[in-house]
Amino acid sequence: MNTPNVAAALIINEAGEVLCTLRGASKHASVAHKWEFPGGKIEPGETAEQAAVREVQEELGLEIEPLGTGCTVEHAYPEFTVRLNGVLCAAKGSTWTLREHLDARWVAPDRLEELDFAAADTAILLWLKERFFGSCLRTERFGRYPTFLAECSSTNDEALRLAEAGAPEGTLVVANVQRAGRGRLGRTWLSEPGQGLLFSLVARPQLPPEVAATLPLVAGLAVTAALREAGAPEAGLKWPNDVLLGERKVCGILCEAQTSARGIEGIIVGIGVNTGAVPESLAHRAIALGSGAQRPDRLRLLARICAHFEALYGRWLTGGLAALRAELDAADCKRGNPITVKPGREVLTGIARGIREDGALLLETASGTEAILCGEIVQWHD
Ligand code: BTN
Repeated sequence: MNTPNVAAALIINEAGEVLCTLRGASKHASVAHKWEFPGGKIEPGETAEQAAVREVQEELGLEIEPLGTGCTVEHAYPEFTVRLNGVLCAAKGSTWTLREHLDARWVAPDRLEELDFAAADTAILLWLKERFFGSCLRTERFGRYPTFLAECSSTNDEALRLAEAGAPEGTLVVANVQRAGRGRLGRTWLSEPGQGLLFSLVARPQLPPEVAATLPLVAGLAVTAALREAGAPEAGLKWPNDVLLGERKVCGILCEAQTSARGIEGIIVGIGVNTGAVPESLAHRAIALGSGAQRPDRLRLLARICAHFEALYGRWLTGGLAALRAELDAADCKRGNPITVKPGREVLTGIARGIREDGALLLETASGTEAILCGEIVQWHD
């Protein structure tokens, strides 16, 4: 008899939200192409799990039976592995057994690239990441319009392109690999494939340019807060837009303006966080949040950075940096320490006295306190 084996499952995340239903025909064929978001088709009085079963029955015209309800099973498809929480069903009389599902292992969407993926499945991988990220996100704007890319030149380029086409505030571009990542002052930003969280957000603050220029500090505060929350209490902001773990850099921020004849239309906030191994050539000055199996889940981290950014950004819009005084002081890891600063060609030394509300670094030198608006703290000599 030519009855296909049919399996259906509902993917529910830890918060109990439905990520997608999965339905597949034929035991060995890829079912990846049949992933579908349920799209709110739950009827009154029905649980999400019952809705999934009904949908599959209706769509495939086959009677299916649940193999387990409220179960957690782990399943490896030829292309990738997912954990299925919820209900797992099979066509009545099919040879699709629960046992084969139990043999598999869980791979977080963030690590799916590490599996041997067929090129054709890249779109599904990106889609799955987007769904997972969406289920972690607790913001109203930032991160709400995501584009996940396997590779691009620079996420800032992609975000700028979207911004110029009218993308709303909150638009997010994330890439696993950047071919030409940029840093400040014409530097390049290097990251090994899959070892960094590389993304750009579109912001559209309606503020005078001198206030808008302090946005990198707001982004730095958001990253510092998210890293501290993720188990790195030593994370600190180094003026004007680096985040350090101890004495090494874990994150860099590059803000670039989207301009028109009318002036600044938007700001692209580009953020690179080292989440796994750092390139060998940077080992003396760069550090990652984790490594190997300890590598943090980039999608969850990204959702938390967006959440902190949105909260801080809202306060900054109405009160500028003055509204973030307490956060600035708590995050500033150089305050009270001897530092060397390069505002342009000059080199100044003194004691860091904090970040002023116009974004200037206060430096106490032998000849008095100077307010430095542009430049950077010299940390590494190479
Ligand atoms: C710096 O430390 O100089 C800033 C580095 C900024 C790197 C990020 S990675 C994502 C975004 N895309 C880029 O090309 N640059 C930023």
